[in-house]
Amino acid sequence: MIYLDNNATTQIDPRVAEHVSQILAQRLVNPASQHAPGRSSRSIVEDSRESLLIRFNARTRGMHSDRAIFTSGGTESNNLAICGLIAQRQGALVVSSIEHPSVLAMAQRLELMGRTVRYLPCLQSGQVDIQPLAQWIEQGEAIAAVSIMLANNETGVLQPVQEVVRLCKGAGIPVHTDAVQAVGKIPVDFQALDVDAMTFTAHKMHGPVGIGGLIVKHGIEMEPMLYGGFQQGALRPGTESPVLASALAFTTELAIGQQEVRFERMIQCRELLESILIAEIPGAIVLGSDAPRLPHTISISFAGLDRQLMQLALDREGVACGTGSACASGSSQPSHVLQAMGLPKQIVQGAIRLSLSCETTLEQVQQAAERITRVAHRLGSTKNSSQSS
Ligand SMILES: Cc1ncc(COP(=O)(O)O)c(C=O)c1O
Repeated sequence: MIYLDNNATTQIDPRVAEHVSQILAQRLVNPASQHAPGRSSRSIVEDSRESLLIRFNARTRGMHSDRAIFTSGGTESNNLAICGLIAQRQGALVVSSIEHPSVLAMAQRLELMGRTVRYLPCLQSGQVDIQPLAQWIEQGEAIAAVSIMLANNETGVLQPVQEVVRLCKGAGIPVHTDAVQAVGKIPVDFQALDVDAMTFTAHKMHGPVGIGGLIVKHGIEMEPMLYGGFQQGALRPGTESPVLASALAFTTELAIGQQEVRFERMIQCRELLESILIAEIPGAIVLGSDAPRLPHTISISFAGLDRQLMQLALDREGVACGTGSACASGSSQPSHVLQAMGLPKQIVQGAIRLSLSCETTLEQVQQAAERITRVAHRLGSTKNSSQSS
């Protein structure tokens, strides 16, 4: 099986697995306990926090240090960022229409609870159109917070986060970015982005599922979503896991430390895969290919084919791929991202997602391309013959 569904989750790096088992073997206790074993656990948690801030070039020194909050993953970080930022602020929540369901579903819930939510449209390039935001700000509309992803999980298209920050800064509007798919693929510098909160998660970069983080800029007031203990400044209470905290820090260190090499390798694989598919399959188009993109994500449409049939057939042929956000898979809903891009129905219907990782080889890509081509030709001809009969 050739695994090309890395945007859903990556397979764990054996070095991370080894690291986790070493920390587990230390039989650590509650890091909030005041005794010596508790202090040992605490130092692992705090070292991990510090390491994350350093990797993202967040502020680590003294009174103006940014905060790294451990969560259960990207979904929780997105939920916490949005609810936390708007709780004490008046006005609308602004999100883009191509956000991950963990942002959009929360926005819809807040809408049901009476909050005004404004959706930024998407251009056909796959980039969010920020013109309406500029207008709302110019017209003096009250905006509580803006959430826009750094890179889209379906197309890989990079989003204009810095432009959004530039617009919002003067108006004092906090900005959150979901950097889940970008971390470890492209440079992610928290201070340079100048956002107020940033989401990331371990399992998209060969770490374990179940641990993620939210970096929060110094001085940003946020409300918790969970209530209980005083852990993590009471912003995310609950006993912290030294094992998972350390696994997240180690995974991030590996991913960011090797990012440039990984980028080159993934770009090479992506270009090979795209060029073969486009040459061999009539009507195949790569969506979002005119915009700057992540090195590992291909959204490709085979016009006239059905994405779900294609995915099933590829699975049987030994290629694991996705049809959109993993959180939405299983549903027969067409991709909200591709629809927001204004693509014709036929293109949306026939689009699958091929997502590579730093572990994908050129040989695998070559083989995958042959299998995908075979399946596309077969499904295409089946369709034509059934239509003519
Ligand atoms: C862009 C984006 N944000 C958030 C998430 C959710 O992350 P998690 O699975 O860690 O909850 C995902 C996962 O697919 C994602 O791709």
